[in-house]
Amino acid sequence: MSANLISGNEISASVNHETAAEAASIAAEYGIQPALAVILVGEDPASQVYVNRKAKKCVELGIRSEKIVLPADTQESELLAVIARLNADPSIHGILVQSPVPKHIDEQKVVLAIDPTKDVDCFHPMNVGRMMLGDFSGFLPCTPWGVITMLQRSGISPAGKKAVVLGRSNIVGKPMAAMLSANNELGNATVATCHSRTKDLEFYTKNADIIVAAIGIPNFLKGDQVSEGAVIIDVGINRIADSAAKNGCRLVGDVDFESVAPKASYITPVPGGVGPMTIAMLMKNTIRACKAAIARGQTK
Ligand code: GUN
Repeated sequence: MSANLISGNEISASVNHETAAEAASIAAEYGIQPALAVILVGEDPASQVYVNRKAKKCVELGIRSEKIVLPADTQESELLAVIARLNADPSIHGILVQSPVPKHIDEQKVVLAIDPTKDVDCFHPMNVGRMMLGDFSGFLPCTPWGVITMLQRSGISPAGKKAVVLGRSNIVGKPMAAMLSANNELGNATVATCHSRTKDLEFYTKNADIIVAAIGIPNFLKGDQVSEGAVIIDVGINRIADSAAKNGCRLVGDVDFESVAPKASYITPVPGGVGPMTIAMLMKNTIRACKAAIARGQTK
């Protein structure tokens, strides 16, 4: 079997097109421009790239972007004060603090400090809980929502399928498993979550119709671990050394594309797969935040 490529570049472009139209219609109808504040603490090069990409995408789609860069030695109390200021600012609809934050800052405190109505990452327990309870009308976790959207727009329904999620992180693995098994038209899969303590991983992966790999280990999943015709979604973004590359490294996923693609029915590439979807769904959450603020009677 030769796999169909699910292009995150193409699907995110169509999602972004819809988002830009929504931003324009909100501006025309209410005179309000949706706005996202992105906070970066420190100088981690990968985080700088991600934050700049988010800010650039905002501008492209007609969303106002406020980028706040704080030095690595920023005290936790100073970061919390910035969040409090943004919480109180009605012209800011979404707030995101790029993860990871420096070690001296308690990330959980930061998550709890963000007003849940502005939590466009969907990290706050209130929003996570709401999603877990099956209410998909509020914020949804960006990467899992991106994966679900890729499946949906490729005509792949998870209903009745055996799905395996590799990884149990709060950002991807846990919410991914919840969304795939949700009792609604986007879910209805039977889901196993596999992790570092899983025994006989291959038992799960070889029996899976859909595999979502999100464990952060380069080229982890091999062709002999998947069944013929499986749908493979690769959430991994790993930088590995490559002397043939211009900058000495290249990006690979958690899936060994070369050995898995010949067996898969559908597969996502890295780069150009899940990555651009995450940003597209963040933009959609920002629109949802703005619309909800308007519904509450906000006029900015
Ligand atoms: N770091 C890596 N992924 C994410 C994300 O989705 N949101 C935030 N805030 N930080 C991240």
